[in-house]
Amino acid sequence: MDKIIILDFGSQYTQLIARRIRELKVYSEIVPYNITISELKKSNPKALILSGGPRSVYEENAPLCSKEIFNLNIPILGICYGLQLIAHLLGGKVKPAEKREYGFAKLNIIDNKELLSGIRNETQIWMSHGDVVVSYPRGFIVSASTLNTPIAVIENRERKIYGVQFHPEVKHTIEGKKILSNFLFKISNLKAEWNLTSFLENIIEKIKNEVNNGKVICGLSGGVDSTVTALILRKAIGDNVYSIFIDNGLLRENEFQYLMRKFREKLHLKVIGVNASHIFLKNLKGVKSPERKRKIIGNLFIKIFKEEAKKIGNVEFFAQGTTYPDVIESRSVKGPSSVIKSHHNVGGLPPDLDWKLIEPLKELFKDEVREIGRKLGLDEEFINRHPFPGPGLAVRIIGEVTRKRVKILQRVDKILTEEIKKAGIYNKLWQAFPILLPIKSVGVMGDERTYKYVIALRVVESIDGMTASWYPMPHNLMQEISSRIVNEVKEVNRVVYDITNKPPATIEWE
Ligand code: XMP
Repeated sequence: MDKIIILDFGSQYTQLIARRIRELKVYSEIVPYNITISELKKSNPKALILSGGPRSVYEENAPLCSKEIFNLNIPILGICYGLQLIAHLLGGKVKPAEKREYGFAKLNIIDNKELLSGIRNETQIWMSHGDVVVSYPRGFIVSASTLNTPIAVIENRERKIYGVQFHPEVKHTIEGKKILSNFLFKISNLKAEWNLTSFLENIIEKIKNEVNNGKVICGLSGGVDSTVTALILRKAIGDNVYSIFIDNGLLRENEFQYLMRKFREKLHLKVIGVNASHIFLKNLKGVKSPERKRKIIGNLFIKIFKEEAKKIGNVEFFAQGTTYPDVIESRSVKGPSSVIKSHHNVGGLPPDLDWKLIEPLKELFKDEVREIGRKLGLDEEFINRHPFPGPGLAVRIIGEVTRKRVKILQRVDKILTEEIKKAGIYNKLWQAFPILLPIKSVGVMGDERTYKYVIALRVVESIDGMTASWYPMPHNLMQEISSRIVNEVKEVNRVVYDITNKPPATIEWE
């Protein structure tokens, strides 16, 4: 199968490039920018993409790849930092822009014969850069520009080296997919043959070979990702997978009981249920820092998995439902992206555990995981469940987590979910959840002054959680939700609505 390799220079969008390429049915892999040329050759890619990145090519210790990549005689496309790198390595010049450019811009096409074939003369693009190419290397032409960036697209058609200053992988670049498709099919002559059925077959085969007759424990969180992981493992190794579902006291109301039944009766998974809510709440006492909370919860999960594994005996592997955005956003294991949040299920296992890690979904996006779930027989209701973070309600209770606060938030969460489902919009939303704020505000109820908690509502649309837009909820629905919350949850007297996109905000508040 034809393969394209993306060298990761640390852009938050690197995985989006991979995703768009997969949407075009070409197999893509992301590797660190400093992969050696011999490794790269071994991997035998049919084309290369150089990602964007937060650094400047002219800075000391900037991430640079070997110039040798240009002698591989395969097509290369540089995106943003990737374009600047091509210019820098081949004798052009890159400088700080007079004005940083962030957001929408209009691209004016000068020559649309190759990379920009079929693109309108003036097309909307998404820019995010602080540097610009001020002179381009010999052998190149400039095929498009914007008002602030005269050298926005360069092409060396003889050597098949291309660079774009904007981000074709981001949806805001209206014709971005067409540009990528030109690079894949017109320029690189790749075949569109990658799909999820072959992915699933390969991964099952791979797990079978790796695990052999060994025992695997699989951490279930109640979400789609870990459930799909458990189903894949069952298919690969049958009864040698032991799924473990821990009640950390930070789940939605009645979630533990509901899911245990679902796992056992509907999905026929062998599940060990562990009630550990008191341990989690005890350890979170007095803790306010989001990162501390995440770390404490992550460590407790590991501790409990360890205890359970001891009871099972001879466990060699640990499987979890890490997906691609988890990996990238937590810390780029494949490149130099900066840390946003540490996800409890990313970052490897503590060194004292000699389990080998199995993460079959590590390269997949959420909608791809859902598609695999369908192939494995998961029902639509389960597949469409909104994502729920591993640290659960702890990262939706700002400040200290107490049992009382968890109860309040669970009740509010139930009301919000009921109303969203009743309004028929649950499936079109990525997530809809409340956040309990650590402040109280004054209100008036039945002529009495009240002083109670404030709830924020976060309702967003997204394709993969990497970017998200706040949902413009109909006012009558907002009214209904707000009234029900303050009427039915007596500890709350004010509801506010979060109207921030990601970026610049994240979806969860912590
Ligand atoms: P953020 O808040 O980073 O969230 O914009 C992106 C998506 O990831 C979910 N999320 C998590 N999922 N473990 C998980 O399994 C975690 O620690 C975690 N933190 C955030 C979040 O709900 C959103 O869908």
